[in-house]
Amino acid sequence: MNVDTEVAARPTVRGPSAGAVTLTVNHEPWPLRIEPRVSRLDALREHLGLTGSKKGCDQRTCGACTVWVDGRRVLACLTMAVACEGREVTTIEGLAAADGELHPDHRGRR
Ligand code: FES
Repeated sequence: MNVDTEVAARPTVRGPSAGAVTLTVNHEPWPLRIEPRVSRLDALREHLGLTGSKKGCDQRTCGACTVWVDGRRVLACLTMAVACEGREVTTIEGLAAADGELHPDHRGRR
């Protein structure tokens, strides 16, 4: 057996691949295929299009990425999206009234 050929034929492993996960966000289930390293904030903004939570510092210091998970305030920038499976995530978009009236925090204050 030629050792050089055997080594060259092995695929390059770059990390875990995307997997199926269902996130419950603003009372709706969202099935996704994401890599385990995707942050909660990136899943919300880039995969679900919910851009109300902002990426400010991306270091858990500014609070711009705040969401609620099972009713508790959480910084979404440095936690993994897959850790939210089976939990209820609420974003600022989820605070709008049923008639579409935005929450005062979403509208901005004068
Ligand atoms: S982006 Fe600043 S705390 Fe998350």
